[in-house]
Amino acid sequence: MSDHEKEYFNTPEYIAYLKRNCELIDRDTGNRDETFTSPHMDIIIKYTDQLGIEPGRQMLEIGCGLGRLVDYLGKHYGIDISGIDVSDETCKLAMERLSQSSGEIKVGSAEKIPFPDSSFDYVLCWGVFDLTDQGYAIAEMLRVLKVGGKLLLTGKNNEFMPDDEDAQIAEIKSREKNIPNHYTDYNALKQLVESNGANLALEHFFLRRGDFMAGRYVINQPAQFQEYCVIVQKESIELPVINEISDSYSKTWRQKHG
Ligand SMILES: C[S@@+](CC[C@H](N)C(=O)[O-])C[C@H]1O[C@@H](n2cnc3c(N)ncnc32)[C@H](O)[C@@H]1O
Repeated sequence: MSDHEKEYFNTPEYIAYLKRNCELIDRDTGNRDETFTSPHMDIIIKYTDQLGIEPGRQMLEIGCGLGRLVDYLGKHYGIDISGIDVSDETCKLAMERLSQSSGEIKVGSAEKIPFPDSSFDYVLCWGVFDLTDQGYAIAEMLRVLKVGGKLLLTGKNNEFMPDDEDAQIAEIKSREKNIPNHYTDYNALKQLVESNGANLALEHFFLRRGDFMAGRYVINQPAQFQEYCVIVQKESIELPVINEISDSYSKTWRQKHG
């Protein structure tokens, strides 16, 4: 990540965007920014429940922002959650909010996680993977997971339906902001996960933009879809394999615009 990109996540504009869109109390989806795709807590819980979280276990959130998930999920499941974020500013705000909690907040990136190997039972990467250098981030997230541990990951697929206009608008808006925006080659992700000693234990595919927010998904991989939410389980410790699995332009965009 360039210095410019990193600085973007510290700007007052970005912090205001997070406060508008990434807080527990914001239920009014109509007021959300168009590029924002993360649904409300009751929908998030439907997926985190599928991790089968046991009290007393350790979780790490990648890109914890203002700490809403660290705060809420920690209390909800009775577990210690630590968080990392590339933004010093969001980490400062998250630390203020979480002063009573036992988890740790650290400045750090998904591509170089500041924790030792096999530290966590669960890793959560919610609404962040598209901002990261995905090949490195996957290898790192699996490195810090214990064997048997699970990673919950959301991301944008590189091939969505050509008539999904909202997805195209979101792609244009993200590019205008000049921040990292990565579309995953989903089959390459699957292979990379396996090369790193893990497998995709649960898959949810959201056909069109807006389906994630509405909780509408299919479980058999379609040819084209806009977003995914998966649970990856670590089975063994392997030497890290890092491959390019994403592109800053979607395949749908490239096919349309050459
Ligand atoms: C849309 S917010 C999501 C925050 C949080 N996951 C939530 O749902 O409340 C994305 C966060 O990821 C952080 N971020 C961006 N790129 C990152 C990277 N490469 N490594 C770690 N954090 C990153 C941003 O600073 C921001 O706080």
